[in-house]
Amino acid sequence: MPLISLSEIHKTYREPGGGELRVLRGISQEIEAGETVAVVGPSGCGKSTLLNIIGTLDTPDSGSYVLDGEEVSRCAPERLAALRGGKIGFIFQLHHLMPQCTVLENVLLPTLALKDRPDSKAARSRGESLLASVGLAGRLDWKPAQLSGGERQRVAVVRALINAPKLILADEPTGALDEKNAESLTGLLLDLCQSTGATLVMVTHHPAQAARMSRTLRLHEGRLAS
Ligand SMILES: Nc1ncnc2c1ncn2[C@@H]1O[C@H](COP(=O)(O)OP(=O)(O)OP(=O)(O)O)[C@@H](O)[C@H]1O
Ligand SMILES: [Mg+2]
Repeated sequence: MPLISLSEIHKTYREPGGGELRVLRGISQEIEAGETVAVVGPSGCGKSTLLNIIGTLDTPDSGSYVLDGEEVSRCAPERLAALRGGKIGFIFQLHHLMPQCTVLENVLLPTLALKDRPDSKAARSRGESLLASVGLAGRLDWKPAQLSGGERQRVAVVRALINAPKLILADEPTGALDEKNAESLTGLLLDLCQSTGATLVMVTHHPAQAARMSRTLRLHEGRLAS
């Protein structure tokens, strides 16, 4: 059974002028557990819209989306929140770290929302060892403002992984980084996905980063092509 199964997903936005913008026009795609997939396409073609639907942050107008065996459109809001918190890790172009929290506190935030919360000691030690694995053992008590852009994105990666999600959704995670940092962040994501068995869906404008994924999906005129 695929981890993600999208069938005939449509999404249309209303334009301020009253017109309609048909962004997704029949997306059908299956993604197996453990795959690493790049989503590419020109600006405005709907990549973030698609990623948000996969992340259950947005809902399609029609079509079916089955995530890990569950039809998402039939999930009640509480179930959706639990799905997101337990099964999905998000990484965005800008890190969205809480400025008033330390590195370790930021990383532990997603554990607070879990229904079966790990005890704080176990969560803390998982956070510490993940931060150490990305070279941030010496930054646990620092604030985001005291970190470089690349370090902040590595914290965001660890935060996305803290609940051991099956699915990691990354929307241009290297978009604000220079080439060297972009390359190392992608490498880090791929390593972590491989060691945990997580599935990665990553939007990117960098062909070099896309080429490192197991497959690339191209979004064009509202449809996906391999
Ligand atoms: N809430 C909204 N209301 C109306 N239109 C929207 C809304 N969100 C997105 N759009 C439009 O839908 C289209 C697709 O947006 P989306 O953010 O998915 O593009 P994208 O492929 O991620 O672009 P980029 O590479 O620039 O991030 C854009 O033309 C955008 O203006
Ligand atoms: Mg986008």
